[in-house]
Amino acid sequence: MKIAVLTGGGDCAGLNAVIRAVVKRAEDGGDTVIGIRRGWAGLLDLDTVELHYDEIDETIRMGGTILKTSRKNPYKIKDGPEKVAENLHKMGVDGLIAIGGDDTLGVANKLWKDKGIKVVGVPKTIDNDLSGTDVTFGFYSAVEEAMRMIDNIYSTGKSHDRVMVVEVMGRHAGWIALVAGIASGAHLILTPEKPFKIGDVIEFVKKRHGSGKTPTVIVIAEGTPIEGKVIAEGAKVDEFGHVRMRGVGKYLAERIEEATEFEVRDVVLGHVIRGGSPNAFDRFLCTRLGVAAVDCLRSGKYGVMVALRGMDIVPIPLEEAVGKLKTVPEELLELTEIFKG
Ligand code: F6P
Repeated sequence: MKIAVLTGGGDCAGLNAVIRAVVKRAEDGGDTVIGIRRGWAGLLDLDTVELHYDEIDETIRMGGTILKTSRKNPYKIKDGPEKVAENLHKMGVDGLIAIGGDDTLGVANKLWKDKGIKVVGVPKTIDNDLSGTDVTFGFYSAVEEAMRMIDNIYSTGKSHDRVMVVEVMGRHAGWIALVAGIASGAHLILTPEKPFKIGDVIEFVKKRHGSGKTPTVIVIAEGTPIEGKVIAEGAKVDEFGHVRMRGVGKYLAERIEEATEFEVRDVVLGHVIRGGSPNAFDRFLCTRLGVAAVDCLRSGKYGVMVALRGMDIVPIPLEEAVGKLKTVPEELLELTEIFKG
């Protein structure tokens, strides 16, 4: 069997660990693996590389993706899906492993449905907002980094008696803000699932910080709307219709500083927590996912995503994973109330 593998969307820790596991499992069974560079873009212009385990076995510890990635959407290009199908055929590929989040796997699902492309998806995103799997790889590596950085922010904030506002990624869901915030003992956690009023935040800060309890650390997800509006950097959208988010933390910090006598600083932990090495949880999960993806192709299970369910890796229809984002449920959001203050 000839297997193609690609990584699409934003990178994260663990992508190389999946690629490595795919190649190992494939080679051990006599199959070959072609790496597609730059996600769907590399399938449109045939940018490929043969992958061999002895050349990539050290990449388990490497952040990012050796195949590079892009936010290219073949459905935004005239005859894009046809071109993808034609190129896979030209290369003699029997099955495709697409590693990505909702955008990449959404395309994979359509290609399976429209063109019968034999595809298996592997769930990735630091945002952890993909349905169908208990967790996406990359998420726990990112929150571990975020937790350590918020610990650092706490200590400098304490020295200066400041209010520290920390913006983290999470355009639709507040998973990173929630887990990193709880793990680092943040005093206020704000997420897209629970819109807030600036006035309430200011009151909260006045009460806590004003009583001498310092620092006050606020963690906010980038996609948290303020008075119904999401703060983006420019109006430009990518091929999946997403604006570039940034600035909600700064905006909030400015409003707090205006309305109080406290010193406020804001920090954006965007790409610094997305890059870098995977933690043990992600290295192990990615290895299992890569092996399971090859096994799906071998057993003729297509149009599926390998998902973590409890302790098991199970194939589920791609259909179940895409289209409906997994936001933080009410019972977990309650933690932000319990530990507020
Ligand atoms: O991969 C998802 C994500 O991490 C979002 O949380 C964030 O808004 C976006 O990527 C940023 O992407 P880029 O690196 O393309 O600006």
